[in-house]
Amino acid sequence: MFAKDTVALVTGAATGIGYAAAAAYSKAGCRVVVSDRDTERGEAAAAELRRTGADAIFIACDVSDPEQVRAMHGEIMELFGRLDVACNNAGIEGEQAPTAESSLDNFDRVISINLRGLFVCMQEQLKIMQKQGSGAIVNLASVAGLIGFAGLPAYCASKGGVVQLTKTAALEYATSGVRVNAICPGAIKTEMIDRITHQDPETEKAFDALHPMNRMGTVQEVADTIVWITSPQAGFITGQALAVDGGMVAR
Ligand SMILES: NC(=O)c1ccc[n+]([C@@H]2O[C@H](COP(=O)([O-])OP(=O)(O)OC[C@H]3O[C@@H](n4cnc5c(N)ncnc54)[C@H](O)[C@@H]3O)[C@@H](O)[C@H]2O)c1
Repeated sequence: MFAKDTVALVTGAATGIGYAAAAAYSKAGCRVVVSDRDTERGEAAAAELRRTGADAIFIACDVSDPEQVRAMHGEIMELFGRLDVACNNAGIEGEQAPTAESSLDNFDRVISINLRGLFVCMQEQLKIMQKQGSGAIVNLASVAGLIGFAGLPAYCASKGGVVQLTKTAALEYATSGVRVNAICPGAIKTEMIDRITHQDPETEKAFDALHPMNRMGTVQEVADTIVWITSPQAGFITGQALAVDGGMVAR
């Protein structure tokens, strides 16, 4: 699927969708950079992948700090001399409150990670990939970047922004051999969703029912889509915001 020695970076890869994506990239034969702001869990995640035979390293990076983002991409170039695939996955849900009652602190925190952090990551990746003349970026947006969700104004704004950053960069780098796409998952069973549902069976059932398939998605289903959209098999696809949502935004 990928050329030999393909280097893939996944941010926020200590757990959840990011970890599943890192595992899927290593299964597809890539050298994987597991990145996260949580050093302990990130190191453990990379060690777990190595135990399964993967070529994986951990680099600590809080994407809300541009200096750390630049340093991480510099380290990748020093270590590997290239970056072929980047999965910008790090993100937070923030607090739940209606728009008028939302705190500015929450708004700034969500935007600084989900939107500004991803923007700075893309800036570094695009510079590298444009020079290489090849590369593929996949950004984790959400169905919350396509439709509204009451109580999540900052999250929805950040993910809508991710969709637009994706389309803009796709146009700008289309002739440079660099593809940029976004994935928009529905509710996927991870720690993030557990924090929202508190694993309450009734709430989980209500989340299932948001999807025409009447279930939440799995991290594997999202990871498989992430790997495919950045692979040569999706070579003519750029600027898309692909819903992986059991049909949620089709209605
Ligand atoms: N789970 C869902 O239902 C769902 C749905 C749609 C979109 N998404 C998006 O997918 C991505 C992953 O979600 P998840 O459910 O796996 O989340 P999660 O909370 O289970 O895991 C997120 C990971 O990102 C890391 N992280 C958080 N802030 C960071 C920062 N500033 N810098 C670096 N790493 C950071 C965390 O340490 C953690 O390891 C997020 O962008 C999320 O918004 C998730």
